[in-house]
Amino acid sequence: LLPPITRCEAVEGRTLWDCVADTDWDNLEFGLVPTDYMYVMKCNRNGTFSEGKLKQFGPVELSPSSGILNYGQGLFEGLKAYRKEDGSILLFRPEENASRMKSGAERMCMPSPTIQQFVDAVKLTVLENQRWVPPVGKGSLYIRPLLMGSGPILGLAPAPDYTFLIFVSPVGNYFKEGLAPINLIVETNFHRATPGGTGGVKTIGNYASVLKAQAIAKEKGYSDVLYLDCVNKKYVEEVSSCNIFIVKDNIISTPEIYGTILPGITRKSIIQVARNQGYQVEERLVSVEELLDADEVFCTGTAVVVSPVGSITYQGKRVEYGNQGVGVVSQELYSALTNLQNGITEDNMGWTVK
Ligand code: COI
Repeated sequence: LLPPITRCEAVEGRTLWDCVADTDWDNLEFGLVPTDYMYVMKCNRNGTFSEGKLKQFGPVELSPSSGILNYGQGLFEGLKAYRKEDGSILLFRPEENASRMKSGAERMCMPSPTIQQFVDAVKLTVLENQRWVPPVGKGSLYIRPLLMGSGPILGLAPAPDYTFLIFVSPVGNYFKEGLAPINLIVETNFHRATPGGTGGVKTIGNYASVLKAQAIAKEKGYSDVLYLDCVNKKYVEEVSSCNIFIVKDNIISTPEIYGTILPGITRKSIIQVARNQGYQVEERLVSVEELLDADEVFCTGTAVVVSPVGSITYQGKRVEYGNQGVGVVSQELYSALTNLQNGITEDNMGWTVK
């Protein structure tokens, strides 16, 4: 293992471990806590990634004319590492992130690391930052792999060179509500994705383009925005940063993946977990009327995990679910998933990686 580096190393009289000891594990939010190392791997001009290196976490040097800065040629991923009771660390389905990055890279005209390179790089980055994996029950280590067109380009074309980078940060709950239900507003003016566009891949531009609607919603006191399809303006797609599920008469439904919706790994896992628990789960078009008529609504994502929805506002009408409490199905699925991720229940699916 490499020696730890901390952001308070330079402060006189402080040891390398003081900084981790200073971390307020009880009040982690979903915000950046700089850690020791990041992983950097470059792609040569014939499209293969050479051996990567760990570097001290810090700024990266980019040409002002890099593909990512000028034309948004970039993708990101998100996964988490969890501390088990016995102190060991688990990753959750990292090869799923690797293969999603591969298909996204194809759409964005970028070369991508192999599944093996991706998973090995994630493991190495987590190991070298292992002291930042929060104690049991206090959060997780969020892992952010990035793939970017880092080479210089001026005319619109794929960049000549690419960089794969991974940084990590300990995180707590994504929404300020914590595990309490969130309040969503259905967006009717802005759209997140169009058929034939890039809504189904994790390209960075998908996230910049939802900031405006999100800011307006937050100003009005909502937690986030729920998007509708841009053709019929009546089918539910996804929230800015997560997928959505409804429960009606114990049947669970979620919008099917048809190009404009991100194929979430938590979404896919929850579908499987719910089926294993005996639920009927449907992937299909879900109309806004069905959403408003649901018994329970919840969101899924790596960052948000399983977040219950307390209310949805659509065209000025607010519908509340389960007296603003956490629904029975949402709670059951949350517990089943997080117990697996944290190594509390036995992993019969082969989803966790030590
Ligand atoms: C994730 O859940 O990992 C995401 O990519 C959402 C991000 C906007 C925090």
